[in-house]
Amino acid sequence: MKLKGSLKYISNYFCTTQFSSMADIDNLKEEIQQFKASSQEQLEAFRIKFISRKSVIGALFGKMKEVPNEEKKAFGQHINELKNLAQNKFQELITQVDAGSDGENESKVDLTLPSSFAPLGSSHPITIIRNEIIDIFSKIGFNVSEGPEIEDDWHNFTALNFPPNHPAREMQDTFFIEKNPDIALRTHTSSVQIRVMENEKPPIRTLSPGRVFRNEAISARAHCIFHQVEGLFIDKNVSFVDLKQTIYFFVKEMFGSNTKIRFRPSYFPFTEPSAEIDISCNICGGSGCNICKYSGWVEIAGSGMVDPNVLTSANIDPEEYTGFAFGMGMERMAMLKWQINDLRLFTENDVRFLEQFKSL
Ligand code: DAH
Repeated sequence: MKLKGSLKYISNYFCTTQFSSMADIDNLKEEIQQFKASSQEQLEAFRIKFISRKSVIGALFGKMKEVPNEEKKAFGQHINELKNLAQNKFQELITQVDAGSDGENESKVDLTLPSSFAPLGSSHPITIIRNEIIDIFSKIGFNVSEGPEIEDDWHNFTALNFPPNHPAREMQDTFFIEKNPDIALRTHTSSVQIRVMENEKPPIRTLSPGRVFRNEAISARAHCIFHQVEGLFIDKNVSFVDLKQTIYFFVKEMFGSNTKIRFRPSYFPFTEPSAEIDISCNICGGSGCNICKYSGWVEIAGSGMVDPNVLTSANIDPEEYTGFAFGMGMERMAMLKWQINDLRLFTENDVRFLEQFKSL
């Protein structure tokens, strides 16, 4: 009898011959195909039953010698097919168990779903205001320079025309280093002016943003750590008009074209003449509120024409060059821009405050 065709045919045949005690090959095939595994134990059960040397398929191979010679080839072919089916299935089950799925649950994992929400941070308002100031001044040719926060007396005071023991030094409550009175935490970014002039030749147009330190009690209006931006412009024939035009340009860009500006005479050791710059309060629009102390004006900067003594200290000839400088507080700028009424908010790291700047 010639064996051909499907396993079904084979199994029927064997069931009716001397191999009727043998497991039904068709059933085995069915069983392999339907097998599900979601654990290592189930995987092992499959391996023992269908893959190991003592598996049912192994037993079928053992029966080979009982098969009549003319049927051996076809019988061998079919149990080989069964063996391949079992091995392929085994690999499939290993992959499924490793992935933690038994095949049926696959649909429950939707790989196309977006991942869970991870909150994004935002820039600190001082960073935002710093970048905005730099952007505005870069439109009129200012670059950015930086200096150290731990500064020597020369750059923080002496070269800026604060003579030793001069009462003007008391204007800024300084943190000195106990062991070396020549070293202090810089009290203003004006120290960077000197460093730039010492290292560069005019024309100079530079902006120096940075952190400054003063020995002040912390309150809603004062802090021992805050930020300033220094501006310095040195060239031939620079006059107070250039200072005014530069400030007008900046204020209109920063606070809008309706903002009013006024210069008030003042005193700083490093500028002559000196002026403080006020803008109309953009919180009350000039009508008066507690931020502007009901004056309608808020101070945003100190400024003036660079004192000839300062130019000389930094090896620039005051007969050939003149210049202006200004220094403004970044916190003050941010408070006005976003109506923030307490300086402490900038350093408290309260997420409820900080996350309001996300969209900026
Ligand atoms: N350094 C001054 C301060 O911290 C601010 C200042 C005033 C800077 C006038 C200047 C200036 O460049 O010209 O109070």
